[in-house]
Amino acid sequence: MANLVLYRKYRPKSFSEIVGQEHIVKTLLNAIKGDMVSHAYLFSGPRGAGKTTMARLLAKAVSCEKPEATGEPCNTCSTCEEINAGRAIDLIEIDAASNRGIDDIRELNEGVKFAPSKLKYKVFVVDEAHQLTKEAANALLKTLEEPPSHAIFILATTEVHKMIPTIISRTQRFDFRKLTVPEIVTRLEGMAKKEKVTIEKEALELIALNAGGSLRDAESLLDKVLTFGQKDGKTVKITADSVKDLLGIVDIKVVSDFVDKVLAKEAGEAIEFLNKSIEDGIDPQEFAKNLVRYLRQTLLLKINPSLKDMLSAGFSKEQLEKIEKQGKDIEEGELTQIVDRFVAAENRMKYASIVQLPLELAVIDSCGIV
Ligand SMILES: Nc1ncnc2c1ncn2[C@@H]1O[C@H](COP(=O)(O)OP(=O)(O)O)[C@@H](O)[C@H]1O
Ligand SMILES: [Mg+2]
Ligand SMILES: [Zn+2]
Repeated sequence: MANLVLYRKYRPKSFSEIVGQEHIVKTLLNAIKGDMVSHAYLFSGPRGAGKTTMARLLAKAVSCEKPEATGEPCNTCSTCEEINAGRAIDLIEIDAASNRGIDDIRELNEGVKFAPSKLKYKVFVVDEAHQLTKEAANALLKTLEEPPSHAIFILATTEVHKMIPTIISRTQRFDFRKLTVPEIVTRLEGMAKKEKVTIEKEALELIALNAGGSLRDAESLLDKVLTFGQKDGKTVKITADSVKDLLGIVDIKVVSDFVDKVLAKEAGEAIEFLNKSIEDGIDPQEFAKNLVRYLRQTLLLKINPSLKDMLSAGFSKEQLEKIEKQGKDIEEGELTQIVDRFVAAENRMKYASIVQLPLELAVIDSCGIV
């Protein structure tokens, strides 16, 4: 069972298996059913949220030989099988991070003209589309302006603000969102069950909390945990503690307690707590990263409590409540300065010979703010 690569093994084969992104699934299924699929889509959103998965599903559904009444692909016809196995030559995936130049797009533009060799549609998926050079993007635009009827383009990007507006306006845009902790936990639970592994719910929650809204990252973490959790080829029961150890995960509780001390201006105690945590095995860099994430959350929720839903990825309900409370107990200007200090500290740690020293200085500074 070693090296499962869960994220490949469990890539959804039907729209119904997609977690979250409900409005996208609904709109796409309706388009497929009504034979009103657009010729250019833009899938924007964070990594590991299902963009590539959705693109492949769409490619499969539009060419499926026996689609279901719901618009779902049948997953049994030769088209579905080819796409599931990753060997459909009419599904062309281009990584714009490495093929970003004008020549790459010229080649693509040539290929677009030819009818699909086997499937109903020729589908071009351009990943990280924001990385195309300006010339390449403009060349692509020409094709998007008049795509042949057999072609469908799906541009995927994690940084839509870097795309040229003329391309965006040529596409039907879908914004993917980060997945929530409960959504991730449910999905991981299902996988653990299929892999016949016993794992504590709290352990799954820890993994979900540390995946920052990316299901792919969560699945990779679970992968690691399952690989490490094997003994003599058998997986032993996986506990929350073992997950913390294995992944060097920084417990948010530790971060939260530390923030309590800083906000109470107890510099000495905060520094002692920090060093004790490091002795206990917490990685200072990881700690700083989580701390900055936590403080950002505190600041943003203080400034605008209605951001709660948007910011909930990576935090449980109790944690969000705690964060909100901590934000209420401090002046906005003070909090901003504290965040600023720890952001600087996190940066300086990369070059520090005593890695926690920048953090300690930031504590002293922060506790001196009046
Ligand atoms: N919304 C989702 N529903 C179900 N699985 C997902 C979802 N998002 C990501 N995954 C899982 O993560 C893996 C990688 O997702 P992918 O579609 O490549 O993400 P992206 O292209 O947005 O970075 C998939 O194989 C799947 O196992
Ligand atoms: Mg992708
Ligand atoms: Zn099919």
